[in-house]
Amino acid sequence: MSRQLLVTSALPYANGPIHLGHLIEYIQTDIFVRFQRLRGNRCVYVCADDTHGTAIMIRAQQEGRTPEQVIHDMSLSHQRDFDAFSVSFDHYGSTNSKANYEVCCSIWAALRAAEMIETREVARLFDPKLQTFLADRFVKGDCPRCGAKDQYGDNCEACGSTYPATELNNPRSVYSGATPELKPSQQLFVKLTPLQQFLTDWTQKSGALQSEVANYLAGHFLDKPLQDWDVSRPNPYFGFQIPDAKGQYWYVWFDAPVGYIAATAEWCQQHGESLDNWWRNPACEIVHFLGKDITYFHTLFWPAMLHIGGFQLPRRVQIHGFLRVGGEKMSKSRGTFVTAAAYAKHLPPEFLRYYYASKLSPKIDDLDLIADEFIGKVNSDLVGRVVNLASRAARFVEQTGLSATYPDDGGLFARAATAGTTIAEAYEACDFREATRICMTLADAANEYVEQRAPWTIKKDPARARELQDVCTVVLNLFRQLAVYLAPVLPDLAHKAGVLLHAPIHHFDAAQAPITGTKVAPFTHMMNRIEPKQVEAMFADAAKEAAAAKVAMPSAGPEPAAAIGGTGSVEPLAKEPLAGEITIDDFQKIDLRIALVVAAEEVPEAKKLLRLTLSLGAGTTRNVFAGIKGAYDPKLLVGRLVVMVANLAPRKMKFGMSEGMVIAAGTDGEVYLLSPDSGAKPGQRLH
Ligand code: MSP
Ligand code: ZN
Repeated sequence: MSRQLLVTSALPYANGPIHLGHLIEYIQTDIFVRFQRLRGNRCVYVCADDTHGTAIMIRAQQEGRTPEQVIHDMSLSHQRDFDAFSVSFDHYGSTNSKANYEVCCSIWAALRAAEMIETREVARLFDPKLQTFLADRFVKGDCPRCGAKDQYGDNCEACGSTYPATELNNPRSVYSGATPELKPSQQLFVKLTPLQQFLTDWTQKSGALQSEVANYLAGHFLDKPLQDWDVSRPNPYFGFQIPDAKGQYWYVWFDAPVGYIAATAEWCQQHGESLDNWWRNPACEIVHFLGKDITYFHTLFWPAMLHIGGFQLPRRVQIHGFLRVGGEKMSKSRGTFVTAAAYAKHLPPEFLRYYYASKLSPKIDDLDLIADEFIGKVNSDLVGRVVNLASRAARFVEQTGLSATYPDDGGLFARAATAGTTIAEAYEACDFREATRICMTLADAANEYVEQRAPWTIKKDPARARELQDVCTVVLNLFRQLAVYLAPVLPDLAHKAGVLLHAPIHHFDAAQAPITGTKVAPFTHMMNRIEPKQVEAMFADAAKEAAAAKVAMPSAGPEPAAAIGGTGSVEPLAKEPLAGEITIDDFQKIDLRIALVVAAEEVPEAKKLLRLTLSLGAGTTRNVFAGIKGAYDPKLLVGRLVVMVANLAPRKMKFGMSEGMVIAAGTDGEVYLLSPDSGAKPGQRLH
C-alpha cells in the first residue's frame, strides 16, 4: 500500500548563503524524498527561509536596507542554489508570511488556554552601541565552566556545556565588540514541566528518534525538571509581535518550526488540499531532517508545541552530523567555507550529491570532505564504473536498438534485481553509504562482464552482429538498473539513461525487469572526470570570497530611481533611433537565454569590465566579459538572473575568452541589466 509522507529540511537562516555544510542536509533529505516518490509513495517536501531574529535585523542595518529586502534577496539566492543541486521541494516558503503568523497565533492561543504561559522579569544582554538586545548566539566570551576563550553565548564548543549568555565571562557583542549591558525586560515563558512525562515517553518510546539522540536527551535534559522556555523578545526585534503582549515579539525559534506547517498550508492552498490531511492525520508520516546543533528545539520544544496545538507529532526526526573539511571545521580564514555557488561554478552538483550519499549513514557522526577522496570516488565510481558501462556499449547498438528478447547473461540481471530489496531498505533507513556501496558491487560485476565479452572485439567481425547486439543489450540493461537504483542520488544521470534507452525511469521497480527492443539514442557524454585543479580553483574562490567579505561591506547596489526615470535630458529614442526592420527568422538566429550569475569579479586591467561566470543550468557555464564595472558591485551580482546571447561566436580578449554577451540597457555610460520575473530558470530561451 502506498504511504503518505510529509518531509521537511530545517529552514535555512536568511542571513547568509547556502554552503556545503547546509547541503549535507538538503541533499540527504532530497535523496530520501526522491526515493519515496520512486517507490510510488505520496511524498510532499516543504521548506522555507527562516527569516526572523536579531541577525537579519543587524545585517539589514549594516547594509542600509530593510530586513524585508534582505530576506527577499536571500530567498531567491537560496532557491537558486537548491535548484542547482536538484533539491526538489514541492513548496518553498518564508517564516515571514501570513500563513506562518496565523499558525503561530493558533498554537499560542492553545498554549494560553492550557495555562502554559507565564510572565517574568529577566535581565537580558543589551548592545549599547547598536541599541539592541542580543540573542545568545551573538555574544561571545569565556566559558563560565571551563574558561575556554571565544565561546558563543549559548554553549561552549570546548567542553560542550550550555548556559545562559549572562553567565559568560568577559562578554562582548559579536557585532560591535561592545561590552553588553544587562537590562531588565518582561519576558514570556512556556512552562515545559507539565509535559515532562509526555516528552519523556515520546522521546524514549515512540521510535521517532535515533537511539543516540534519545539517550542524549534522557541524560542531559529529561533527567531533571525541564526548564521553562523563554519565548519572547523585547523591541527592537524583527519578527512577529505577540498578539496579546504589547511590545513583545516571538523569539525566532518559536515561529521557525511553525514554518513547516505554514509552508504545508501554502502548498495545500495552491493544490486544493486540506492541511488537516497532512498535519492532523495519523496516517501521514511526518519526517524532519536536521543537523545535530538544533536537536533540542526539534525534540523538546517543537513536540510540545505540536502536542498542545493539536497537531500530529513527527513519525521520525532524522538528525545528521556536521561537515568537516580535511578533518577540520569549515572555516572562512582557511578557505574551506565553500558556498553552494562557488562549488557549482567549478564542479557539477551531481558529483557532490554522490559523494555525500557515499558517506552518509543514519548516525549523527560528522562527515569529512576530503578533496582527494572526492575526486577519486567520482572518477572511479561514477565515471569509471557506472557511466563507463553505457559509453562502452551504447554506440554499438545505435543502429539496431536493443535485442528483441533478453539474452542469457548468466544471472547477472536477476541477481542485481534481487539486490533491489536491500538497496531499498538502506535508502529507507537513510543508510545511503550502504545503498551506494551495493550499487558499486553490482557495477563491478557488470564491468567484469564487459571485459570478458569485449564488445569492441566482437564488433570487428560482421558475422557476430547478433552477438554484439545481445552483449550490448545486457550491458545497457545492467547500466539502466544502476541508474534506477542511483536515481534518488543522481536524478540527472537517471534522466539521461531514460533518454538514451527510450525508456524514462519513473519507478524503483524499473530495475526488476530488463527492457528489450527499444531504440538507442546516439550516445552523448554523460559525465566528465574531475581534474584536481577544478577542486583547487573552488577552494581558491572560497578563500577569495572570505577575504573580500572581510574588507568590503556590500554596497546598496544601483539607485533604483535612476533605473526607472533615466537621468539624461535627451530622450533615449531620439538619441538612438529604431533600427531597420528584420524578419522573425533573423530574430530566431539570436539565442537569448536566462543565465544565472554564479561568479563575478573585476578584471583589474580593464576599466569597464567584469568577468562573469554564467550558468545555463545542467552544469553548462559560460565565461563572459561585461562592460558593467562601476555600475554593479560584482559581489551583489552573484545569484541574480540575467539575459545572455548564448550563441555569439566566442571572442578572444586580452584577459581570456568571452563566450557570449549579457544584455543591458543604457546610454552614455549608464548600464541597466535586465532581469526576468521570478520563476524563470537558467537555460530557458527567450522567444
Ligand atoms: N534556522 C535554523 C533552523 C530552523 S528549523 C525550524 C538553522 N538554520 S541554519 O541555516 O543554520 O542551518 C540549517 C540546517 O543546516 C540545520 O539543520 C543545520 O544543522 C544544518 N547545517 C548548517 N551548517 C552545517 C554544517 N556545517 N554541517 C552540516 N549541517 C549544517 O539552524
Ligand atoms: Zn567550556
